[in-house]
Amino acid sequence: MRHLLDTQTLSRADAIQILDVAEDMADTQLREVRKLPTLRGKTVVNLFFEDSTRTRISFEAAAKRLSADVINFSAKGSSVSKGESLQDTAQTLQAMGADAVVIRHGASGAPRTLASSGWITAGVVNAGDGTHEHPTQALLDAFTMRKRRFGADSRGRDLDGMRVTIVGDVLHSRVARSNVWLLATLGAEVTLVAPPTLVPQDVSLWPATILYNLDEAIERRPDALMMLRIQLERMNAAYFPTEREYSRRWGLDPLRLEALGSDSIVMHPGPMNRGLEISAAAADSARSTVLEQVTHGVSVRMAVLYLLLSGSEHEANTAPNG
Ligand code: CP
Repeated sequence: MRHLLDTQTLSRADAIQILDVAEDMADTQLREVRKLPTLRGKTVVNLFFEDSTRTRISFEAAAKRLSADVINFSAKGSSVSKGESLQDTAQTLQAMGADAVVIRHGASGAPRTLASSGWITAGVVNAGDGTHEHPTQALLDAFTMRKRRFGADSRGRDLDGMRVTIVGDVLHSRVARSNVWLLATLGAEVTLVAPPTLVPQDVSLWPATILYNLDEAIERRPDALMMLRIQLERMNAAYFPTEREYSRRWGLDPLRLEALGSDSIVMHPGPMNRGLEISAAAADSARSTVLEQVTHGVSVRMAVLYLLLSGSEHEANTAPNG
C-alpha cells in the first residue's frame, strides 16, 4: 500500500489483509508490554484541518505503539490563519521528515490531491475528507462486525450475507459512504435509512437499498444497526427536520432498541448526540459496540501504518522483542 484514500477502490484482498494484520496488532495489545519496535525511526504527521477526538488520538496511539515518532498539526492556531496553503503546509511538515501524513480536511478530495500532487513523497492516509470518505472508520467498523461474528476465528473472513442498516444523515456522512463501499466489497447487504432531505443525489449508484422508515428497517432484524451523527455544522436548516421530529422518526429510542432483537449490535462512529439520533439507553446498552469500535480503531490504524511504512516481515516484527 502506498496510500489509503478511500474504500471505494479498495479491493477485497487488500481489505481482508488490513483486517487480518489488525487482528495481529490487537493480539499484541493484550501483552504486558504493548509497544512494538516495528516503525522505529519513522515519522507520522497528523495533519488535521478539522476537529477530531477519536481519529487523531487513535492514529497517535497507533503510531506510538509501533515506535514511530508523531508530529501533531492542528489548523487551529497554525499559520493556516495567515493564508498558508495546503501545499506549503504539507511541504513544511515533509521537510521535518514525515514518512506518512494522516490528513483530515473539510474539502472532499484533499487527501487525493496531496497524494497525487507530487508536493510530498510521504504516504497519505485519509482521516476524513469533507462528505467524501473516512476509510479507517469503515475498516474499524468492519473489524468490529467481523470480531462480533467470528470471534477468535475472524482471520481471512469477509462479511458475506451480514445485514447492516445505516441510519441518519447519509447526505453529509463520509462514514456512511466509506462503510457502504467496504461492506459491499466484503459481501454484506447494506440498507440506508434517512429522511428524504438527507439522502445524496447519487445514492442510486451506491450498492445499498434505501428506506425512509426506521421501524420498517428494524422489523427486518438487521445484524448491525449503525446510527450516524447528525452533522448540524455542515447543514442548511432547510435540509433538516426539526430535532424533535428527527428524534421521533429516526432516533434509536428504548422502544426501537427493544424491537431490534437481542442478537443485533448497535454501532455509532462517534461523537454521539445523545437524545437526538441515539438514546442513552441504546448508547450504553450491552448491544452497543461504541467503545469496542474505539479500541479496535487503534489496532486497525496500527495495521494501516504498518502496511504503509513497513510492508514486509510482519510476523518477525510483531514478535515481543521485534
Ligand atoms: N468517528 C470519528 O471520526 O470521530 P472524531 O471526529 O472524534 O475523530
